Amino acid sequence: MDNPVEEIKRKLDVVEYIGSFITLKKNGRNFKAICPFHSEKTPSFVISPERQIWHCFGACNDGGDVVKFLMKWENITFIEALKELARKTGVTLKSFSFEDKIWKKRERFFNMNLLAAEFFAYLLLKEKFAGKAMDYLVTRGIKPATVKRFQLGYAPQSWDSLKLFLKKKKYADEEMLENGLLVKSDRGSFYDRFRGRLMFPIKDSRGFIIGFSGRNLDNKSKEAKYINTPETPTYHKRETLYGIDLAKESIKKENNVYVVEGEFDMITPYQSGFTNFVAVKGTALTNEQLLLLKRYTEKVTLTLDADSAGEESTKRGIEEAERLELEVRIVRLEIGKDPDEAVRTDISGFKKALSKSTPIYDFLIESAQRKFPEETSFAKKKIADEVLPFIERITNPIVKSHYVKKIADILGVSEESIESMLMTIRRKDKQLKSFKPKTQPLSKEDRQLMIEKYLLSYIFQSDDPFAVGNRIFSHLESQDFLLPAHQKIIETFLDAKKKGGNFFLNTFAGKLTPELRQSFDELYLFASVGQPLEDENINRLSNEIKRYSIKREIKQLLSEQETEKKKQRLVFLNQSLKEVEKTLPS
Ligand code: CTP
Ligand code: MN
Repeated sequence: MDNPVEEIKRKLDVVEYIGSFITLKKNGRNFKAICPFHSEKTPSFVISPERQIWHCFGACNDGGDVVKFLMKWENITFIEALKELARKTGVTLKSFSFEDKIWKKRERFFNMNLLAAEFFAYLLLKEKFAGKAMDYLVTRGIKPATVKRFQLGYAPQSWDSLKLFLKKKKYADEEMLENGLLVKSDRGSFYDRFRGRLMFPIKDSRGFIIGFSGRNLDNKSKEAKYINTPETPTYHKRETLYGIDLAKESIKKENNVYVVEGEFDMITPYQSGFTNFVAVKGTALTNEQLLLLKRYTEKVTLTLDADSAGEESTKRGIEEAERLELEVRIVRLEIGKDPDEAVRTDISGFKKALSKSTPIYDFLIESAQRKFPEETSFAKKKIADEVLPFIERITNPIVKSHYVKKIADILGVSEESIESMLMTIRRKDKQLKSFKPKTQPLSKEDRQLMIEKYLLSYIFQSDDPFAVGNRIFSHLESQDFLLPAHQKIIETFLDAKKKGGNFFLNTFAGKLTPELRQSFDELYLFASVGQPLEDENINRLSNEIKRYSIKREIKQLLSEQETEKKKQRLVFLNQSLKEVEKTLPS
């Protein structure tokens, strides 16, 4: 019986699969991409079709197979990813059972949330005491089908009805507390967090319920308008976008997403056919949310309340988006105070407003002009101060020079003077950054390991590894390498070389133990990324390894008791060292 992971891997090509999520570029025998798991400008994410693996040599420094990719992509556990891929490829997992505590807990919490949502939804539809919640939805124009689709519900005005309901389903108070459904009082007793509220289940992109938001029904109430699940093992506010499960396909199709601020501002447009909307709570679009959106679209259109569009937090979001090379636009609503109101007041006006979105930089310039309308040099300086820091960070040179020209026109100054102001900002930015700890220069040992990896990668990625190996191992031995894993891989390689024939990557990898195979896969991909060692020549790097190795042995011998034989060896080593050093810059 085959291992299901192997079976999945045979049915699902890693390049094709990852390529369905992100854009890949052919790079020799491999593929390269901008890593989807951290912000970067130059690609350090490499995929090998032959080995069916990927690796990020950037900030992640992590890699693996298709299963590992999905784990990271969805932020899920091994078993979750395996289940998903098994379903996709039609592989059965029956004979395969193993413990996965994290997933078990998460699954239990998802189920608990689902039961809670069903409980709230049932009460909303069937119970008389929920009538005021239904009436409220009617006043807000929410149709029954929408109530169903969003699994809206009602949490009764009671301290323990959800608690008692979930107890019958065999959930413990402590679990419900950890999942954010209960609150612990000072006296140590537990009670329902959501009471007398209209309930919105919050879902992740796959549709699992991760938390709740509850709105009170009385605008005059002294309590908070919305109460939300706190941070829990399943709910992380920074990563959450309300409505993403329903909107993601449409976002992909439209290559655009409208970001709004609140549940109703996502729901009301949705039921009127605006299906590529997601909502954030509060205005700061986080890096995590932008990374999630970048999976589906290259364009983000902010459709925020009029009062928050100019806020600091919005501006921070713009910076993050620019780093991820997302195009940001903004919609100004003049009809209602928010999208929910606008849709209900004037749907065609709303549609028009959406179609007239402004690039974010034009918006920033216009806001600054409105803020400082005078024709004075002081006002002009203020405008420049306000917008130029954003312009400075624009990565695309064409876009950037467009705005330099535009601002120069508006302020009635030369483009050169704008350029020079940008230069000053850039310098200040750099100064600020230089206060942060610099990246350490490589230690000798790190440099050595990096060269080892590079040399081996160079051999294994070449068209004829045995021939390249002949060249490199004519003056290097496995013992010259520092890392035991590298030594063992080399010994296996030299063995295979002795036996003759052609080199086959997968046959070779199959000869290694699983631990070694992991090191091998990583170093195999290493030469595909633009590491600083890239354009140094192979002979020089081999000699550098030799030098490290000789020095290491000399040091070792000097620390030991002297014998005649060792003395001779030292003489020999010193001679070799001299020769090697002749070939290296000092
Ligand atoms: N919010 C919150 N807690 C509050 C107030 C608001 O979590 N005490 C979040 C909610 O997700 C809310 C969003 O911030 O939808 C925007 O709040 P606000 O603009 O005050 O409300 P609206 O979205 O207009 O809410 P509604 O339409 O329900 O009045
Ligand atoms: Mn509103």
